[in-house]
Amino acid sequence: MRQKLVIGNWKMHGSLAANAALLEGIKAAPARAKLAVCAPFPYLAQCQTLLSGSQVAWGAQDVSSEARGAFTGEVAASMLGEFGCGYALVGHSERRTYHGETDAVVAAKALRALEFDIVPVVCVGETLAEREAGQTEAVVGRQLQAVLDALSIEQLGRIVLAYEPVWAIGTGKTATSAQAQEVHAALRARVTAKDAGVAARMAILYGGSVKPDNAAELFSMSDIDGGLIGGASLKADDFLAIGNA
Ligand code: 13P
Repeated sequence: MRQKLVIGNWKMHGSLAANAALLEGIKAAPARAKLAVCAPFPYLAQCQTLLSGSQVAWGAQDVSSEARGAFTGEVAASMLGEFGCGYALVGHSERRTYHGETDAVVAAKALRALEFDIVPVVCVGETLAEREAGQTEAVVGRQLQAVLDALSIEQLGRIVLAYEPVWAIGTGKTATSAQAQEVHAALRARVTAKDAGVAARMAILYGGSVKPDNAAELFSMSDIDGGLIGGASLKADDFLAIGNA
């Protein structure tokens, strides 16, 4: 049995006061799933402080593919590692779309995170046009393959995968549990082709308009191991309800 994992992606939301209230709310109640929050960089130290001693982990929303150097605005995995950062999202569709991140860059970011014992949450997902053209499995397969090719089996054993159909992000349109399960099973089959043991243990999260009222149904599917939550992770009650779904 894989333990359920629910990760909040705050995106570019928050303030010191709002985060403190949110984190206090999340810490206050138990959740059946393992919980983590991915906050904007300036708030990571606040998360480190407020979540220390709690069961809730924290992470970043991105990490540089470079080790160090003249890369203005970038944040190195070594820097995140110094703070004890647990997770880093890599390849979120908003990074791929607005910042031109390629599959190769995403794989390089995953490798950097692993170098500093940060769990990369590798995000894949198709656009609506790609789904309608019947290309879903080809697109997410290609995105995943870059990571499978770059990582050793030992490294693969330390990543989390997240399927986030682009058309379901922030739109209120969720993939049906059957649609999501189909893609999750295809992703796991690709990992199985590389290593069956790693595939059986890998957490594959679903993201895209997950809310308290649809989480239980999604999480009941055999290959859906939890969620990557945007909007609903900004409300403690909703996030906890999803963590208990
Ligand atoms: P929403 O839950 O707001 O649709 O966002 C999903 C997402 O992009 C999480 O990374």
